[in-house]
Amino acid sequence: GIKTPTPADIRARKGKTPLVCLTAYTTPVARLVDPHCDIVLVGDSLGMVLHGLPSTLGVTMEMMLLHGQAVARGLSRAMLVIDMPFGSYEEGPEQAFRNAARLMADTGAAAVKLEGGVAMAATIAFLTARGIPVMAHVGLTPQAINTLGGYKVQGRGPDADRVLADARAVAGAGAFAVVLEKIPSPLADRITADLPVPTIGIGASARCDGQVLVVDDMLGLFSDFRPKFVKRYAELAETADAAIARYAEEVRTRSFPGPEHEFGDEKGKPA
Ligand code: KIV
Ligand code: NA
Repeated sequence: GIKTPTPADIRARKGKTPLVCLTAYTTPVARLVDPHCDIVLVGDSLGMVLHGLPSTLGVTMEMMLLHGQAVARGLSRAMLVIDMPFGSYEEGPEQAFRNAARLMADTGAAAVKLEGGVAMAATIAFLTARGIPVMAHVGLTPQAINTLGGYKVQGRGPDADRVLADARAVAGAGAFAVVLEKIPSPLADRITADLPVPTIGIGASARCDGQVLVVDDMLGLFSDFRPKFVKRYAELAETADAAIARYAEEVRTRSFPGPEHEFGDEKGKPA
């Protein structure tokens, strides 16, 4: 099969063909996305998407480890990247190293992703100098929801310089790629032209070096969450609702199980 890209391979894709990235949180979904993706991300979005949390702030190391191990079992060619959860890296480089090393050792991930720009540059430099490739994440950083004041577009007007400075800081610190989330497309284009490493957009720009989406969002597994930047490539929630409604109806009318789903006894199967 095709060789799994390394973080260095991903970095070398700067300015070349677009990088394809999706999230996965489970083995079966990892198997579905693996043949099509360069990078599969175990995002801390799993807290909201799978566990019903109101934000990503309640996601723990244990949750990331459990889902990271499940995803790893489903991959054979895409590169695995795992998010560092809120509270596992912000205290300082040593805390970040300890937790990043655990995430990589226990899941086999090739790299970690963490949120933050200028404030995280020293931590990113510390990790990369010690064998931990880092994917950075700037713009809208959901773990900072309480200081950002909502899931709104970042980097509009005079705020553009802050996001550009963040992107430059993380690339300068050694990040091999940078996720740009929910920023104006002209700013994403400017950052993409400026940085020596790939930008991976989500709600950013078609000119980024790659794109990422939450797989459950693009498959339409939610009916309620529809941000502008998510294109729905399927409506699986509608398909599932119809299937479940039919099952309920068939149980209530005793048309399921049918004879083909039943077992006979030693005298054979009843008609
Ligand atoms: O947690 C996540 O799914 C992410 C991607 C959306 C970039 O961080
Ligand atoms: Na995330």
